[in-house]
Amino acid sequence: MSIYTVVMISLSFSLSLRCSFEECSATAEWLLSRTEIRPLVGIVCGSGLGGLAEMLKDQMAFKYSDIPNFPQSTVHGHAGRLVFGKLKGKACVCMQGRFHLYEGYPIHKVTMPMRIFKLLGVETVILTNAAGGLNQDYKVGDIMIIKDHINMPGFAGNNPLAGPNDERFGVRFPSMSDAYDRELLQLAQGVGAELGFGDFLREGVYCVLGGPSFETIAECRMMNRLGADAVGMSTVHEVIVARHCGMRVFALSLITNQAVMDYDSQEKANHEEVLETGQLRAKQLERLVSNMVTHIEHNNNDA
Ligand code: HPA
Repeated sequence: MSIYTVVMISLSFSLSLRCSFEECSATAEWLLSRTEIRPLVGIVCGSGLGGLAEMLKDQMAFKYSDIPNFPQSTVHGHAGRLVFGKLKGKACVCMQGRFHLYEGYPIHKVTMPMRIFKLLGVETVILTNAAGGLNQDYKVGDIMIIKDHINMPGFAGNNPLAGPNDERFGVRFPSMSDAYDRELLQLAQGVGAELGFGDFLREGVYCVLGGPSFETIAECRMMNRLGADAVGMSTVHEVIVARHCGMRVFALSLITNQAVMDYDSQEKANHEEVLETGQLRAKQLERLVSNMVTHIEHNNNDA
């Protein structure tokens, strides 16, 4: 085989990983032809937070393995279903289980569902995740509204928008200073206060790392000094792609553990603790999101 053939094969392979407009449209059409729900809100459930999807009425669910071009979820605590339905009367689509860099997916596949959301007609994306607390005032069980992020893999060139840009999705250089919608953030504060969540509702900066190993003490100290309040392994890539294609974004972290910042500490981060805390606060997080969804409807008058 000539060097030219090898180069052409690897180039077409890497481009085929890019989740083209045509590929995403085919998947969206496949879904739209199988459900009558036309979602305006798309929700992504983090580790142990898949209960939100169970709240949907008149459900129509698709296993990821049955959806053409869709990646598969491999993580314990992530169910791997795309659920369409009504949340308090509002048409929604919910990812019960998401994709992470540490599962070995190319970053384009991790974020492909956001493009499919867009092509399904979604206008607002709500993402949840489990995160480690870096801010020393945070406690396990706090819910942090994400007001901004630090994209560590992005510093090393691992950005989901790297490569050729398809203008049908969005512009070459999208701004990220307005990534997290300020109106939705204020709405969440109001809804949280009404629900009596003031004591454990926070607002802060989320820092993403590739995982799957948890952070060292030095890394946690560094992120904290850089201004991060919480650390995790998801969300930011999806936010970048959702903003690129013009959807509004709101995101929440459930602080499932305190990141270890002290060499005298005997604590160690572990996935079981993450899932257990998820279960303890899941109900409140679900109420916050579902009440917000009702208000988005009032604000925008769009469904
Ligand atoms: N670090 C990274 N990801 C996480 C953590 C953490 O401490 N907790 C939950 N997800």
